[in-house]
Amino acid sequence: MTPLPVTQETEQSLFFHNYARLPIAVTHGEGVWLVSDDGTRYLDMIAGIGVNALGYGDKRLTEAISSQAAKLIHASNLFMMQPQFTLAEKLLELSGLSKLFFANSGTEAIEAAIKIARKWAGQFGNPQKKEVLSLSNCFHGRTYGAMSLTAKPKYVDGFEPLLDGTGMINFNDISDLEEKVSRKTAAVFVEVVQGEGGIHRISQQFIDRLKELRLQYNFLIVADDIQAGCGRTGTFFSYTQVNAEPDLVCLAKPLGGGLPLSAVIGSEKVADVLSYGNHGTTFGGNPVACAAGIAMINAIFEDKLMENAETIGKYINDEIEKLAAKHRQILDIRQYGLMIGITVDKEAKFYAGKALLKHVLVNATSVNVIRLLPPLTISREEVQLCIATLDEIFTEEEAENAC
Ligand SMILES: Cc1ncc(COP(=O)(O)O)c(C=O)c1O
Repeated sequence: MTPLPVTQETEQSLFFHNYARLPIAVTHGEGVWLVSDDGTRYLDMIAGIGVNALGYGDKRLTEAISSQAAKLIHASNLFMMQPQFTLAEKLLELSGLSKLFFANSGTEAIEAAIKIARKWAGQFGNPQKKEVLSLSNCFHGRTYGAMSLTAKPKYVDGFEPLLDGTGMINFNDISDLEEKVSRKTAAVFVEVVQGEGGIHRISQQFIDRLKELRLQYNFLIVADDIQAGCGRTGTFFSYTQVNAEPDLVCLAKPLGGGLPLSAVIGSEKVADVLSYGNHGTTFGGNPVACAAGIAMINAIFEDKLMENAETIGKYINDEIEKLAAKHRQILDIRQYGLMIGITVDKEAKFYAGKALLKHVLVNATSVNVIRLLPPLTISREEVQLCIATLDEIFTEEEAENAC
């Protein structure tokens, strides 16, 4: 059978129309370069939406995957498996927390956290203590619980009714926080650095007040570190930078080294909440994904990639500031390690489209924010190519406008 042409027309005929895919078919990658079927090399500043922390083709990762795949690809959680145990031990050691659960995607980690929070809250004899709150402008996923916490019209319109007992606190608004949390609150979900929301970091004052209110009302703080975690912002967990001391932590994206894997890690407080049969998944903690996760975390430490995220991130920030001094199109820059948002004066997809034509992949989020989430392995020379391309795009636009 002749394979179908990998074109946008075929894509439209095969799939539900829920993705706005770029008009390129990719076949492989090398380092920070993604290669399309016509051999074009793209400098990848998106890294599979923050997944490919090691870039493409890391031998330690591919060997860990192939050797585990040769032994055992799947057995299910009816059994115990070494790769799960080793990865769990690593994550518990890194977080200082007590117990964890593996799932497959970010949204599933959030669902598990919602369930754990509600069941935990149930023990206090207050049937109203079921409320799960999140922060405006957040993104936690697309299944019903996670989507109910996300609650941005773009993600929820047409899918109502949402989960009952969810609500939203204005991001970094302490008086709104004080107004919204109460004895009814079971958990507050926070992204320390909001990703889809345009790269905004929670304020220290907000976190400090949240922790005080946790003492007063006894709720859980859940850190969604799905995008900002695993070293991207310069520390393994982003929440340590604001000393958030979460009760539950959600990880995903790079955790499985590119294979589907997520985790919910919990403190002693919630360690015994789940009991047999309460929660589970057929694929969660797949041994190949866990083997990849172990290799990925080892490489992050061996190659000092968190330090790289910190120094290269600052370098990108400085370079973009220089661009901002030259080009009025740049309105603001926010940089936390290698999680970078550049606010521009029009829809960011306009610039992402121009960059694609110049073989640089950047992502548009929150309407007018260019988001950079490059592999943590990126070098100064590779960054320079991206900066030079952005410079060129803004300069060309200025020249066109001058005509
Ligand atoms: C902060 C955050 N939470 C949750 C999710 C959902 O993860 P997934 O797409 O793996 O379900 C994402 C995905 O972008 C995210 O960035």
